[in-house]
Amino acid sequence: MKILIATEKPFAKAAVDGIASIAKEAGHNLALLEKYSSAEELYKAVSDADALIVRSDKVTKEVIDAAGNLKIVVRAGAGYDNLDLSACTQRGIVAMNTPGQNSNAVAELAIGMMIYMSRNSFNPGTGSELKGKSVGIHAYGNVGRLVAKLAKGFDMKVLAFDPFVDKTAIINDNVTPVDSIEELYEKSDFLSLHIPATPQTKGSVGLNLLNRLPKGGCLVNTARKEIINEAELIMAMEKREDIKYVTDVATENHATISEKFGKRVFATPKKMGAETAEANINAGLAAANQIVRFFETGDKTFQVNK
Ligand code: 3PG
Repeated sequence: MKILIATEKPFAKAAVDGIASIAKEAGHNLALLEKYSSAEELYKAVSDADALIVRSDKVTKEVIDAAGNLKIVVRAGAGYDNLDLSACTQRGIVAMNTPGQNSNAVAELAIGMMIYMSRNSFNPGTGSELKGKSVGIHAYGNVGRLVAKLAKGFDMKVLAFDPFVDKTAIINDNVTPVDSIEELYEKSDFLSLHIPATPQTKGSVGLNLLNRLPKGGCLVNTARKEIINEAELIMAMEKREDIKYVTDVATENHATISEKFGKRVFATPKKMGAETAEANINAGLAAANQIVRFFETGDKTFQVNK
């Protein structure tokens, strides 16, 4: 079988080497398309691939249409909002993610962003400490749990809201569950976002929630930029001169936002939550192993288009 790695933002070399040796050992061929700049390059590369490994690369209906032999696509990472699942399903293509594999990298970035915003963007001037502050975890999944664990190491007070997670599991982690999303925002000096981008969540964080942040509150977004209602974010930040926003990654409007709010906002230029060698190796090798198992035994663990 031919496995194609198509990554506009390439994996670390060690991850590519690891995927190559897993593919070779299982008797598959590996092709690599990195740093491509047009969808056409992807259509061409995928045309004879049996399996596809991507990161945040958009696997649209057009990509699926161009991939006549494709049987499986694995998003090496957690969020699969970049995959057209119905196009995959219509063609009988199995779509998977690799949950948890890059979570630590994202959690460390969330904490790093909190420190950066507390320390005057690493400029001279008096900042503040994380110790004693509260952090609200909005969605207690793989990344949220790790942010909670790291935040406790900083002596932060950790709260969480997740209607899909049993409160006992949250309490067992020494984290305080709250009853509503509104309460979470009201009680969080730092609000760490970990919800996926879905039709229901897109644009769901806006004025109503941001207005509830305590004085000096900071929204930390290592999830997806699409979750934020950006027009309302601007309104909230105009109304409240104390609140801050830090995000991985910038939207198209970021230059305007940055000019307007200065050091109260920061955005990474390219999504970098999972940009560590460790995360690339964990997620890349997991993707390769999932593909090998799928071809060998039909194993569909981690399928997301059921
Ligand atoms: C994820 O959903 O796993 C992260 O956002 C990582 O995305 P990336 O692989 O594009 O860095």
